[in-house]
This record gives sequence, C-alpha cells and structure tokens, in this order.
Amino acid sequence: MRFLILWCLLAPAWAQIRSLPEMKLWVIETDSASYVIGVNDLGYLQHVYWGGKLLRPEDFAPARAARTFAFESRESMTNEEYPGWGGMRYYEPCLKATFDDGARDLVLKYVSHELRGETLAIHLKDINYDLFVDLVYRVWPAYGIMARHAVIRNQTKQAVVLESAQSAAWHLPQGSGYRLTHLAGRWAGETQLIREEIRPGKKVLESRRGNTSHQANPWFAIDGPERAGEEHGRVWFGALALSGNWKFVVEEMSNNQVRLTGGYNDFDFGYLLKPGETLATPAFYAGTTGAGFGDASRRMHRFQREQILPDRAAPKPRPVLYNSWEATTFKVDEAGQKTLAEKAAKIGVELFVMDDGWFGQRNDDHAGLGDWYVNTKKFPNGLKPLIDHVNKLGMKFGLWVEPEMVNPDSDLYRQHPDWAIHFPGRPRTEGRRQLILNLARDDVKEYIFGVLDKLLTENNIEFIKWDMNRHFTEPGWPSVPMAEQKRIWVKYPANVYEIFDRLRARHPKLEIEACSGGGGRIDLGILARVEQVWTSDNTEAFDRLRIQDGFSFAYTPKVMMAWVTDVPNMNGRSTSLKYRFLAAMQGSLGIGANLNHWQQADTDLAAQMIARYKKIRATVQQGRLYRLASPREGSLTANQYVSEDGRQAVLFAFLQAQQFQRLTPAIRLRGLQANALYRPETLDDKLVDKPRALSGSYLMNRGLDFRLVGDFDSTMIVLERID
Ligand code: DGJ
Repeated sequence: MRFLILWCLLAPAWAQIRSLPEMKLWVIETDSASYVIGVNDLGYLQHVYWGGKLLRPEDFAPARAARTFAFESRESMTNEEYPGWGGMRYYEPCLKATFDDGARDLVLKYVSHELRGETLAIHLKDINYDLFVDLVYRVWPAYGIMARHAVIRNQTKQAVVLESAQSAAWHLPQGSGYRLTHLAGRWAGETQLIREEIRPGKKVLESRRGNTSHQANPWFAIDGPERAGEEHGRVWFGALALSGNWKFVVEEMSNNQVRLTGGYNDFDFGYLLKPGETLATPAFYAGTTGAGFGDASRRMHRFQREQILPDRAAPKPRPVLYNSWEATTFKVDEAGQKTLAEKAAKIGVELFVMDDGWFGQRNDDHAGLGDWYVNTKKFPNGLKPLIDHVNKLGMKFGLWVEPEMVNPDSDLYRQHPDWAIHFPGRPRTEGRRQLILNLARDDVKEYIFGVLDKLLTENNIEFIKWDMNRHFTEPGWPSVPMAEQKRIWVKYPANVYEIFDRLRARHPKLEIEACSGGGGRIDLGILARVEQVWTSDNTEAFDRLRIQDGFSFAYTPKVMMAWVTDVPNMNGRSTSLKYRFLAAMQGSLGIGANLNHWQQADTDLAAQMIARYKKIRATVQQGRLYRLASPREGSLTANQYVSEDGRQAVLFAFLQAQQFQRLTPAIRLRGLQANALYRPETLDDKLVDKPRALSGSYLMNRGLDFRLVGDFDSTMIVLERID
C-alpha cells in the first residue's frame, strides 16, 4: 500500500512517461511507440513491451517472471531490464561486479523511482550490498526517440570492481527470424551497411581500439521476420553515445528472445569504484517505427540536428569548406596557402582549412606531433598573415590539429616520455609513427587544453579539424595505483570530451570537425561536441556513394563532410568533375582538390556547382532524406531530399555502368504533396521530358525518366513547389 501511495505521488498524469501504480508498470510514450517496464512478482525490474503505440496500456497485466524450465531459473527466462551477473542468469549481464570480500554475485532489485516530466529514474539495489543502480530514462516524444543510461553508485564502505557496466539491454518482442543491420568497415571503407540474420547465440559488435573505430560503429537497426523495407515495416534502432571502447551484444536466447545489450566494452574493463563514487554509463538512444529504415533514419537525423548537435537550439547550415590536405599534404607554407585561399574564395568557398604540416618539425609523419607551435620556416611571421588574408577574402579560417598524439621525435616527447600511454619496460607500439598521450591523466589533459586554448586565443581560428590517427596499444597508466589503471578506458574519452566542452565554452565562435584517420570517430557522443565529422579518407566519388549510404542510415547528412577531390583517385578511378560534385553535394560540401591544377573550365564548373549547392544546402543538410535506389543493390543510386517546409525537393542520381543499352528505370520520388505542383529545374540534359510543372502524385507514382548512359553518369534535379 505504501508503495502504491508513493508511486501515485511521484507520477504526474500529464507526463510522457506514465506510471500505472496498480500494476507496477511504467509506460514511456512517443508519437508512435510505447515502451513498457514493470516490477515483477519477484521484485525485479522487467521489460514488458517495446513496439507500436498502445492506446490502452492498461490492457497489460502486471509483470510476471517466466516459469522455470529445466536447467533455467525463472530469472534467466525473464526479460530483466538491467540484469546483474548473479544467481542463475546466463545471458549477457548489464552489470558485473567483484566486491571487496570476493563475492562475484550481483542481484538487482527494484527499490524506488522518481518521475519528472520526460525523465524517469528507477533505483535498483543489490540484495546484500549497498551497490545502487539508477536507471535513467528520457524520452523525446516528437522524434520517437528515448535514451537510457545507468548510474552505478557504490555506497558500501569498500571499493567495488566493476567488470561490466552497460547502458541498456533492449528487448525485442519474443520470437525469432529477426535481422540485424549494422555498420562495418575499415580505413577508407567506413560505414558499410551489413545485414544478417540473428540466429541463436551471440553476435558481438565492438571497438577495443580506444575510440569509436572505422571497423564497427555503435549503431544498430533490427527488423522482424516479415522484413521491413525503406518505407515500410517495423524497425527498432539505436545508437550509443561513446567515443571509447564500446560493445553491443546481440543475443538470441534459447527461449526465442532477442536482446541487444550495449555500453562500455567489458573487455579489460575492471573499473575500480571507490566508496561513495559513481560511474555513469553513456547514453544509449533508441526508437522504433512502423515505417521502415527510411523513417528510422529520418527520425535519427532530425533528432541529432535538433537535440544533439552543438547548434541544436537554432540549427544553421554548414559552410562550404576548402581543405588543403589532398592538395599539399605536409607541404604547407604561407605563400602556397594564400594562393589556394584566393582560388578557393573565387569559387565560393566560405571556410578555408589548413591541414597537417604547419607546426613543429612536421615535414612528414615522422615528427612534430605534440609541438603545437608554428613552424617558422613555413610561416616566418606566424599564422596571422595567412589568417588575415583568408579573412579579407571573406572566408573563415580553420586549422588541423591532432592533440591526443605525440611523435617520439618531438620536443614534447623528449620532455615527457612518461606522458605517453605505455607499460614500463615494454615496447611502445607506434602507429603512423606516433604514440598516444595519456589524456586520462589530468595533468596531461590540462596541458593539452592549455595549448589549444592559447592557440585559439592568439589567432582568429574559427574552426578546428581534430584528428586522431591511431588506436590504443599497451594501455598502461603507470602513474596511478595498479587497481585504478584500467579506468583509462572510461577516463580517456571523458577527458577528451571535457577538452572539447571547455574549448567551446571559452571560444563560443569555435566550430569543430571530428576526424580519426577518416571516419574513425563518428558517434552520438562526439556529435554533441562537433559540427561535423570527416566521413572517410576515401574521397573517390563512386566508393563514397556506398560509404555515404551506410552513414545516412545512422547519421544526418548535415554532419557528413564530403570533399570534391582530384582524379585518378582511389581504385585508380576517374569520374567527371560533375559526378564528384554531385556525390559530395549529398552531404556537407567541401573541396579538397589541388586548385592550382584546375583548368579554367573546372574552376567555372566548380563555381556553378557551389552556387547551386548553396541554393539547396538547407534541403540537403536539414531536410528529409529518401533513399530511392541503393548503391548496394544495382547500378543506379538515387537519393532525394525534401526541405523541412516541403517546398523544395532535390534528386541526385548516379549510374555505375550501363549494359546492353538499357534505359534508366523511372525514378519515383517520395515525400511530396500529391496534389501540389512542382517546377523541375535541371542541371543538364538528362531528364527525358522537360515539362514546366509536374504534380506530386505524378512524381511519386509515375516517376521521372532520365537518360543516364555509359559509365559513371550522373544528374541532379531540383523541384520547387508552386503555390
Ligand atoms: C588523416 C585525415 O583523415 C586526413 O584528412 C588528414 O587530415 C591527415 N590525417 C593529416 O595527417
């Protein structure tokens, strides 16, 4: 009874998270979905439902633990919302601990809860010890997205070692035949979309590399046996906000229950939680939709733009950028950069970024990282003359940095060899001839913050590209007691985030691009701190279509930096400048070509394409994306973007290779107003018929015919709604 009264007092009726005290249930509601949890007859917090919106959650009965089964317990057959590793439980735990007395058994029961508007905190506690877990739920109903994370509190008198600390376990409706969609890849081949059946057993997606990784990305989508498509069918999806070691375990258990557990990677975890300390796990965002993968992506895109990105309060378009890397590599100097800047300004670039090579003794990748002072041979008067020049040309100035790294051949390393991550007396493996500074150390963090703060204070740098070009090895932290050394996996990414946050607070004009040798650090944790990410070092336009396609499943095109570069490019492939522009215009446009090598015709075309991009960028960056034809599935790739207000639609189409003189199949558009008229504006002569206006219903049902021929042909049309 006391339980019931307390529960009623804590649960306002208007909340997006409702509690049904008689049934000990909580219902989290979005525009189109419901998520239900409850306390079961054994006192455990149990997952009850996640799917399409229920109009009468009261139809549910109170949560009841499953029946026993031979070799299983009631608990092990029950969908516990956040299970500890203890008792007879054999599935992936959310929390695993060793207590001071040697006990390695953790059983979490419901204690109490707090419900305030869109946030619910449920407090769990171990049956013996004062180890508490606050499960925190937050919901954004209009986006159909919720977030979960856990705060683990040690209120015992002894230290506890946490061997696994997950953010959430997500349960799918009981059954089998599910399919997992995820992103895998490698350097220069990131965010490749993979689809596979979920079968009994476990599938692990993870990074053990110290940051997010090129190889796997912390995003998932799952659909059921009836199979969803781009615009139909139920999809459950989610993304973890962590740029450190993360792990997803997708598990189909013997009772046909599929669940995905994700959070900190438990490999080499061993986090020492001292008495009175807490550990918060990263937020795990998730949602479900009945309208396919396209809708799942669009929900994530809008959510990221309006709730995650630094400009979330008032989203603004990204500028067109020039970056010097592919043009000059390390050979930067004042005169050369000024010339490039002049050429970039002429074609309409708004932000000029000088990449690697401007500092220390940095002439190649052997030396200089760590020495963040200007190389006076290349810039005898510092950066000011170049920055002033860029500003006078009407552009902002941006600079490349790689603050987490040090070359053994650097002044910093000679002064502080102990600052690199290492195990004393053992080899320090170099990647790209560099070591990682131990940013888990607060003194190293303060040093790096100070250096960057000084650089930004002394120069009018309005943008930095923050790179990270190797992954962790020998993750030692010898300057703290042994029992605390494994905290590096938590403290390192947390301190990196802290530097970003403090720099942004001290330099409110600053914008940041996250890069890690291309797309090695793309996740919702970093996206809360940066305006954009470097998608891949592979700028070859045809490969990019695949990389960008996968990227778009999880992340908004607004943050997807895409450069137009020179040919032949990777794979020895050459595509036309128009094709390269159209590929890059599907995200946040940048130019990375050597403008000194361009002919007048190239410069003219570039100026035209950039001018066109500026007319459609609000639609591309902040509109709704419809993936019409996938580069994974055939010769034709087509993507359509519709502006937020529905007045403009932009269609991009690419043909890989024509065979047997086949005609391009009609491309049917989506997301238009059936009874509205749209005026097509073409880029070239690829549209077969050139009507003055077409109805939305025609465009969506009959579709458009294009004449795409030969290899690597491409086109774009813009449709403006006529009112
Ligand atoms: C890796 C990045 O992905 C490139 O764009 C470039 O910035 C180089 N590092 C510079 O070393």
